[in-house]
Amino acid sequence: MTTPHDQTSRTHEEHARHGSGADGHQFPNSHLLLHGFDYIRPASIEEAIGLLQVQPEARILAGGTNLLVDMKLERTAPACVIDIAQLPGLRGMETSDNRTVIGALTSIRELAISERLWQEHTCLAESAQAFGSTQIMMMGTLGGNIANGSPASDTVPALVVLGAEARIVGPEGARTALIADLLQGPGSVDLGPGELIRAIGVPRAPAGTGTAFLKLSRVRADLAKVSVAVRLVREREHIVSARIALGSVGPTVLRAKKASAMLRDKPFSKDIVLNAARVAASEISPIDDVRSTADYRRRAAVALVHDALMLSWERAARGTTDVPRGRSLVPQRTAAAPVQADAQEASTIALTVNGEAYELEVAPNELLLNVLRDRLELTGAKYGCGIGECGACTIWLDGMPVLGCLVLAISADGSEVRTIEGLAAPDGTLDPLQDAFIEENAFQCGYCTPGMLMMTKKLMEEIPEPTEDEVRDYLKGNHCRCTGYTSIVRAVRRASQRKREKPQSIAFPVNEQQKLEETNR
Ligand SMILES: Cc1cc2nc3c(=O)[nH]c(=O)nc-3n(C[C@H](O)[C@H](O)[C@H](O)COP(=O)(O)OP(=O)(O)OC[C@H]3O[C@@H](n4cnc5c(N)ncnc54)[C@H](O)[C@@H]3O)c2cc1C
Ligand code: FES
Ligand code: FES
Repeated sequence: MTTPHDQTSRTHEEHARHGSGADGHQFPNSHLLLHGFDYIRPASIEEAIGLLQVQPEARILAGGTNLLVDMKLERTAPACVIDIAQLPGLRGMETSDNRTVIGALTSIRELAISERLWQEHTCLAESAQAFGSTQIMMMGTLGGNIANGSPASDTVPALVVLGAEARIVGPEGARTALIADLLQGPGSVDLGPGELIRAIGVPRAPAGTGTAFLKLSRVRADLAKVSVAVRLVREREHIVSARIALGSVGPTVLRAKKASAMLRDKPFSKDIVLNAARVAASEISPIDDVRSTADYRRRAAVALVHDALMLSWERAARGTTDVPRGRSLVPQRTAAAPVQADAQEASTIALTVNGEAYELEVAPNELLLNVLRDRLELTGAKYGCGIGECGACTIWLDGMPVLGCLVLAISADGSEVRTIEGLAAPDGTLDPLQDAFIEENAFQCGYCTPGMLMMTKKLMEEIPEPTEDEVRDYLKGNHCRCTGYTSIVRAVRRASQRKREKPQSIAFPVNEQQKLEETNR
């Protein structure tokens, strides 16, 4: 099989010319969106539902971190993409007496650093924090993670054990369904034609509840080999009830019903926990694939279920205090006007890039990274993998680090973009972070460096004095193939230390600074 990295030696033109190799093998195109599609940005969710009825083959675009990758790898070629990312009222969290309601467009990152979620539904926050890349967490949405239907979706095991329900809207009106009942098979969820997830409701847990999510992956920046979520209710030394769900070990996220039943209404003991973990591992149906073998997954499931049960048991008594530091970054965008663009039609978009205003004509399938590099000659942001995995293309969109290779230029209409070229002051004085990278020799070939800098700049706004673990975690989606990461971590720590000794003002354009302050409130 050809890997995305094999493709980097082929130019874009070669890709376009040679859709298939001499032997007829189809090369997945990892860089460009070759096929054309109509692009529609509806004004309301009702309009989106109406459009889906007329064009059942159209696909919804939320964060795009699954859909655009699938389109680039030619796993899907929708004739029309309906962009709901800026629809109002679908983002954020509200808590009432009996449940927390989370908008479908709420980003994974918002979940991962929500103090309220860590306290009330720890396993859900923990599953969001387990995602393999900070940029993907900022772009990807909870609704997209569910609707994508992957057995490796991190939030789904947590939502299943929490008894969460999807609030769905469609041509027949509104309905609710347990997340567990939506799961049909790999890539398939029970959403009818024209149906959309509007929000996710998570019932309030009874007193004495402890939850945990654990994920085992090859490296931090990867999908799970096995993941486990547990919700356990405790009364003194008694287990009142337990729910266990596992990811990446079957065609959908699976519930370990027998193991859960054997724990119900039993005195707690280490033996019963170990036995339940063994039973849970007998209930799964893992396969051999690129990430692991079925045998390893089964063995690992025993350990993970055991540990998640123990953690939940402890948390049921003492609660959770491990809330990661960071600020909830929500793009402060004025919703762009509704738009309908035919595949062959160029639309005018307005962008402010590093403080300069541009008007550009773009086709629906043009990526923001191509526009920056090829049209504006801002070549700092790099093409690496083209499918979200390396972080070399990281730029800021409305103050949030995103992957330029997974953003449609047309969907960025009206946004503020910041690239590495805008990091130094207008007189050319380097940012203190750039100085620190030079002083610590935090690069060799330099290919990853623009992405590293754009990420670490944001990290230091969120956490001015990050620990080594925080730096490494924030950069988990940025790959360097030369230096190793030690000198990069040292550079960030050096810049942060220098900032403490001599506070620097951050040279943002004024409106961007205002937006950050609003986000902070
Ligand atoms: C490099 C990389 C790393 C990743 N790491 C992880 C990881 O560690 N853990 C993990 O779980 N996932 C991971 N993912 C997968 C992906 O980021 C998540 O599934 C993300 O939550 C998808 O959200 P999205 O908004 O980007 O979805 P999109 O790509 O916009 O949509 C995904 C699918 O859901 C549909 N859809 C979206 N929103 C709705 C809605 N409201 N109603 C109905 N249908 C909808 C779309 O039509 C599409 O079919 C990774 C992806 C990449 C590229
Ligand atoms: S080029 Fe690798 S993440 Fe965008
Ligand atoms: S310095 Fe070469 S990839 Fe990081």
